[in-house]
Amino acid sequence: MPGLLLGDVFPNFEAETTFGKVKFHDFLGDSWGILFSHPRDYTPVCTTELGRASRLSDEFCKRKVKMIALSIDTMEDHHGWTKDILAYNGVKDGSCSLPFPIIADSKRELAVALGMLDPDERDKDGMPLTARCVFIIGPDKRLKLSLLYPATTGRNFDEILRVVDSLQLTAHRRVSTPVDWQAGDSVMVPPNMPEEEAATLFPAGVYHKDLPSGRKYLRYTPQPSYPHH
Ligand code: BEZ
Repeated sequence: MPGLLLGDVFPNFEAETTFGKVKFHDFLGDSWGILFSHPRDYTPVCTTELGRASRLSDEFCKRKVKMIALSIDTMEDHHGWTKDILAYNGVKDGSCSLPFPIIADSKRELAVALGMLDPDERDKDGMPLTARCVFIIGPDKRLKLSLLYPATTGRNFDEILRVVDSLQLTAHRRVSTPVDWQAGDSVMVPPNMPEEEAATLFPAGVYHKDLPSGRKYLRYTPQPSYPHH
């Protein structure tokens, strides 16, 4: 992701959106944020993704994550396309809106600034479309995670919720989450944490898996609770 690394303060951009003008840091307030980009309005994969994102908005809200989408089309297209996305979700009332704004980046300014362009997918004029980026931003406005998929591969929003759970847990507790972890599963104790400290920090118990090396680095503890959970 050119120019934007994990831990960087996310740019405080201003943009026109379907909810009006947004200054990004003000929009986030003290919440977490997720910005997800789309190649183009009125395209099939994007329609299914925004439909699913909309159906999951209560789950993001529960986790205090504010959602915002981006596509490189005009506001007029965004409003028209919104009706199609809602119909895809089975919403019959055409006056409803999506539960999050869509940035109208028709000049591709943000897409270029945030390194979102997919060189392999171009519009009829030969201009590159946006890839499917996901940026997750913490309440400190710093980038906590980024994903970048080509336009031809739709994202898995269950995975995005799963990583939000891991990011929020590990922001508050000195643990890490193993492969395929789901909220509520046991978590891992950092390898450099002395046994006595682990026993104090994790009163629910620490257990390890015996390995041929004899090293006790695969240490687990039941998932501790963390704020809002
Ligand atoms: C889609 O959303 O289906 C799509 C958009 C641009 C390129 C490829 C697929």
